[in-house]
Amino acid sequence: MRLTEHVHKRLKARVRSGDFAVDATGGNGHDSLLLAELVGACGRVCSIDIQAAAIGATRKRLREADCLKQVQLIEENHATALATLAEAAPRATAIVFNLGYLPGSDKAVQTDTANTLTALDASAALLAPDGLLAVTAYRGHSGGQLESEAVAQWMHKKEAAGWILECHDPGFRERHPPPVLWLISPPAPGD
Ligand SMILES: C[S@@+](CC[C@H](N)C(=O)[O-])C[C@H]1O[C@@H](n2cnc3c(N)ncnc32)[C@H](O)[C@@H]1O
Repeated sequence: MRLTEHVHKRLKARVRSGDFAVDATGGNGHDSLLLAELVGACGRVCSIDIQAAAIGATRKRLREADCLKQVQLIEENHATALATLAEAAPRATAIVFNLGYLPGSDKAVQTDTANTLTALDASAALLAPDGLLAVTAYRGHSGGQLESEAVAQWMHKKEAAGWILECHDPGFRERHPPPVLWLISPPAPGD
């Protein structure tokens, strides 16, 4: 099963009608659409992306599926947008990151380690006690391997603090390194 399919399977098991969920890297809107379908018309999704082309692509996908009304599109750096949501929004059942660049667009606009780590800290504050944070990292492009190592360290610190971590990593290969997925949830109550 591809990692994106694995993420979607886990989101389907966790996110319910009426929930609040966040797509921290909206891109072409595939994850935002799934979240919008899962939360339904009485739920809410925030879909964040730093570039207008991605926001436009996500808006189009959502409109065509008649799911636009439950989604707030936020054209902003996820480091700041998630910090704002953590202060004011309800807790999120799911937060999804798909790191890297928008497929078929300018590769210069890609997630970067510093903003990703700040956004992950804000996500930890925003996540509901039974929430799920899913992060997929791609290691084949410039900066991707370093970003992935930084995310792995962040994940292991959380695990040491009692968070429940699951990692899907087929192992690093110099040529064509595969993507890696982390799924992490806050500690169970009472732990
Ligand atoms: C791999 S794509 C996401 C694909 C998306 N999940 C989908 O379903 O199509 C990564 C996205 O992250 C966005 N991005 C890069 N840096 C960002 C940042 N600091 N804040 C928010 N979005 C960012 C890019 O513009 C790009 O659209």
